[in-house]
Amino acid sequence: MKGIILAGGKGTRLHPLTISTSKQLLPVYDKPMVYYPLSMLMLAGIREILVISSPEALPAFKDLLGDGHQWGLEFSYVQQDHPRGLADAFLLGKDFINRQPVSLILGDNIFFGHGLPDSLRKASELQEGALIFAYPVRDPERYGVVEFDEHGKALSIEEKPEKPRSHYAVPGIYFYDGRVVEFAESLTPSARGELEITDLNCIYLENSELRVEVLGRGVAWLDAGTHESLLQAAQFVQTLEDRQGMMISCPEEIAYRLGFIDRETLLQQAKMINNQYGDYLLRLLEEEIPFHNAG
Ligand code: G1P
Repeated sequence: MKGIILAGGKGTRLHPLTISTSKQLLPVYDKPMVYYPLSMLMLAGIREILVISSPEALPAFKDLLGDGHQWGLEFSYVQQDHPRGLADAFLLGKDFINRQPVSLILGDNIFFGHGLPDSLRKASELQEGALIFAYPVRDPERYGVVEFDEHGKALSIEEKPEKPRSHYAVPGIYFYDGRVVEFAESLTPSARGELEITDLNCIYLENSELRVEVLGRGVAWLDAGTHESLLQAAQFVQTLEDRQGMMISCPEEIAYRLGFIDRETLLQQAKMINNQYGDYLLRLLEEEIPFHNAG
């Protein structure tokens, strides 16, 4: 399976922080925001990754991530001239996708939790249909909202409904089969002028080819799109990392634990970071931290 990180948008809700830089490059405690969604794709076992961003921000993403070899990955880049909605990622990524199954993750979505690596690995085995997630939130009207029947079967998905039919929001990580580009090409812009990912999901739902997996309360899905939520996300990461002495969404660690890179490659990177981040990477080479904690 291939992966796409969509890191576009103007980030206006974070102005003035995002006037001269991209939201997804802002720090969330000790690492750039984009490391978090990137880590999710890596945990899913995905190594061929397309990064989509604005013409202004794309050079900075290339500086940060390079070609990916340092983490055993392969990055490619495509620029999005105007934000045209999430489903535009599949039009921009058509050649990259090349009719293969693909996962899309939004560059500002942060996930952490027990069992998540397992769910992601399973999701990445998808060959047919689509798989999305549902997560209970206090304010569903801000998101895509999925309604279930009493057997847990998805009945409808609505984008930012005034009267949500449930509290289950659809988080920004999606898995599709190779037909996704074809379906995305059939979409027309919504009232807010965007190619909606919700419309795409509705196509799979109407074909009875959409699976919706509920993420339980043991999983954190954080939004980092406002000043307040950005700080909260950073505090969440800081609190857990400090308590456990293990990093959250550290690409070097995940690459090493999943065998994408060897000890020597990890050591090289550890030596380039002269602070506690680098010290942590050095420690990984010495200590035995249980594998299931990767992430
Ligand atoms: C987008 C999607 C929405 C989804 C959300 C997750 O919203 O349209 O369905 O629930 O991402 O972050 P937007 O970022 O456009 O407000």
